[in-house]
Amino acid sequence: MYKLVLYPLRRTFSTSISKLSHSVPKSLEINGVSYQSDPNFTNVTESILNLTDRSLHLNESHPIGILRNIIEHRFNSLPGSHFATFNHFKPIVTKWQNFDSLGFPKDHPGRSVSDTYYINGETLLRTHTSAHEQECFHSIKENNEEAFLISADVYRRDEIDRTHYPVFHQMEGAHLWGRSSEELHHLEKSIKELEQLLKNYTTKIVVKEADPFDDSTRQPYMTNKEALLCEAHLKRSLELIVAEVFSKKIESMKLKKSTEIPDSLQVRWVTTTFPWTTPSWEIEVWWNNDWLEICGCGVVKEQVLRNAGYKADSKIGWAFGLGLDRIAMLLFEIPDIRLLWTKDERFHKQFKKGEITTFKPYSKYPGTLRDVAFWLPDTSEKFKEIHENDIMEIVRNIAGDLVESVKLTDEFLHPKTHRKSLCYRINYQSMDRNITNAEINDLQNKVNHELVSKYGVELR
Ligand code: DAH
Repeated sequence: MYKLVLYPLRRTFSTSISKLSHSVPKSLEINGVSYQSDPNFTNVTESILNLTDRSLHLNESHPIGILRNIIEHRFNSLPGSHFATFNHFKPIVTKWQNFDSLGFPKDHPGRSVSDTYYINGETLLRTHTSAHEQECFHSIKENNEEAFLISADVYRRDEIDRTHYPVFHQMEGAHLWGRSSEELHHLEKSIKELEQLLKNYTTKIVVKEADPFDDSTRQPYMTNKEALLCEAHLKRSLELIVAEVFSKKIESMKLKKSTEIPDSLQVRWVTTTFPWTTPSWEIEVWWNNDWLEICGCGVVKEQVLRNAGYKADSKIGWAFGLGLDRIAMLLFEIPDIRLLWTKDERFHKQFKKGEITTFKPYSKYPGTLRDVAFWLPDTSEKFKEIHENDIMEIVRNIAGDLVESVKLTDEFLHPKTHRKSLCYRINYQSMDRNITNAEINDLQNKVNHELVSKYGVELR
């Protein structure tokens, strides 16, 4: 199953390996602002920082921008709701914005340097659009609005393969209501309208509800009725987004006379937890014989609203966070996530504002496999744990988008010396051109050299 919004558990090697010389400049200059670095935290690389001004979500004829537009348009044409849109937030945020304001526990794995790109101990590249919830809740409060949408690029250290890239895009949304009987009546009416809209799609939507959750996940300040209304409005709104996006795809498949057109759209709700919502769910869609996780969501915790300046217990509402890249890849049939980042005209000229078209591969360039096998240094030195993502980072920083995937192919513990050996297989393959053997040798030598000089491994 695709995991696209949740923090996955990652591989850390049980044998630590040393971090020898990690050369971090004293300060970093990013978009004209100077940031003090911190050797214990700073792990952003130039290749990542170079992606921070691409703003693919703002390009209306790029798959990410097209998808964003479709969803924004659907939300903003709902009767009686207006969502303020925030699409220009810069990616550097504080630890407080990204984690503390949302109630992330101090030991949450998402905070670790192996998962997150830190500028220094206090600032980082946002790992999710939820980092801006506080300021958006505050802004809609000041402007007497009730709902918002945020779209932006988000950053996470991750493995390298066709569906993982260190930058991807999310859309965040939230909707609040006051608690007067008039507002609750309005909320009830909106739910009925959403139910009606859901019936209008030619493709039937079949919804499988989540197992009922423990009542203790409900917030005590809300009445039972309020909690149920919030839940129903949230669920019907997201079902509507799924219906809108996937039925557009089904219509385009019909035009193309595709052979495997689904006759219904199956979605299911799964209960889960997030630090700033309770209760919380994920919505998944059955597509290409797999459950695709579309988005995480839930009823906003009262404390989050209070942090944004609302009077205690004055509002109820929901929030969601949706990953755009995997959905765009399915809709436009884009086989490799790197294509979203290419500057090749042969890619860009295939897409038009408002249209879901099928990507036609312009050419397939062959891949070249190279293995790197090494012993982790023995543990008598001063060691710091290395995460698999550190190895990914080295390869990405040297080979950039010329690397298709990096996979651990062998792990071995020497019975006598107790030293550990690892073997990684790198597939070098460009989306846009042929790469020569000489070029690959050069890249591979640099990777080997970095592994030795940064982490003190012994090549085998
Ligand atoms: N920010 C979450 C993530 O990236 C997704 C999410 C879940 C956003 C629940 C929300 C929410 O606003 O209510 O994993």
